[in-house]
Amino acid sequence: MHIKKAVVPAAGRGTRLERITLVNAKELIPLVDRPAIDWIVKEATSAGIEELCIVTSVNKLAALYAHTEDLPIQVTYLIQSKPRGLGHAVQVARDWCGDDPFALLLPDDLVMGDPILTRLVAHVSATGNSALALTEVPQTKAFMYGVAAGENIDGVVQISDLVEKPPSGTEPSNLSVTGRYVLTPDIWPLLEKVEPGAGGEIQITDALRGLAHEGKLAGLVTQGMRHDLGSAESWLKANIAYGVEVYGIDWLDDFHALINKSSQ
Ligand code: G1P
Repeated sequence: MHIKKAVVPAAGRGTRLERITLVNAKELIPLVDRPAIDWIVKEATSAGIEELCIVTSVNKLAALYAHTEDLPIQVTYLIQSKPRGLGHAVQVARDWCGDDPFALLLPDDLVMGDPILTRLVAHVSATGNSALALTEVPQTKAFMYGVAAGENIDGVVQISDLVEKPPSGTEPSNLSVTGRYVLTPDIWPLLEKVEPGAGGEIQITDALRGLAHEGKLAGLVTQGMRHDLGSAESWLKANIAYGVEVYGIDWLDDFHALINKSSQ
């Protein structure tokens, strides 16, 4: 199975960074020396992806287009006319995906230090079944995510059930869905049947749940460092972590020295 397509849902308004996203698409917020979307493209091409489909809103299209036309990958833009949820954004790309397997990359969720997308691509190519990334979180934070149930054998989970944003205390595990998926066309009939779920939105998790019940969904646990670009605090931390990647650890030492000096 050759996986060369990726869908990037980018229609969200970025409400948690509203003062910035009022004037800029959240995918274009800088991360060290380039917009966040460039890091996603780098990750995708490293995993062998050759074609990208960005699903966005009319409002953000011009800015994204202006930026992405020079990227080293073929990009198609599709419009999600209303923000009806992640599952709906994926449905917009249905015809573009055709009968091919595809990666799904959430651009505000980044993982450092583990080539998780490459690992997912290899896993799906080998097994023929869909797979997604999982990160262990404190159980008290699981309500913020999709949460998977299943036995974890050496970092590979055969997912038996999946719940989107379970109310605190009901989470089936501490394994949270992280925004990297590689999906086979088995997802389409399930997605068609999904009714609005958590938050009144069409959730991809509810379609994936169907795959899990059929025994056709795996989770690969990542020990990589996860960054959420949607919140100011986490975005700031991501800039420092990626800054070290770009400028080296000495840069961080200089930075520490500067902070120590200014706080004396
Ligand atoms: C989405 C998914 C959720 C996943 C999360 C990861 O939620 O629906 O299952 O855990 O991304 O970032 P969102 O953050 O868009 O509400």
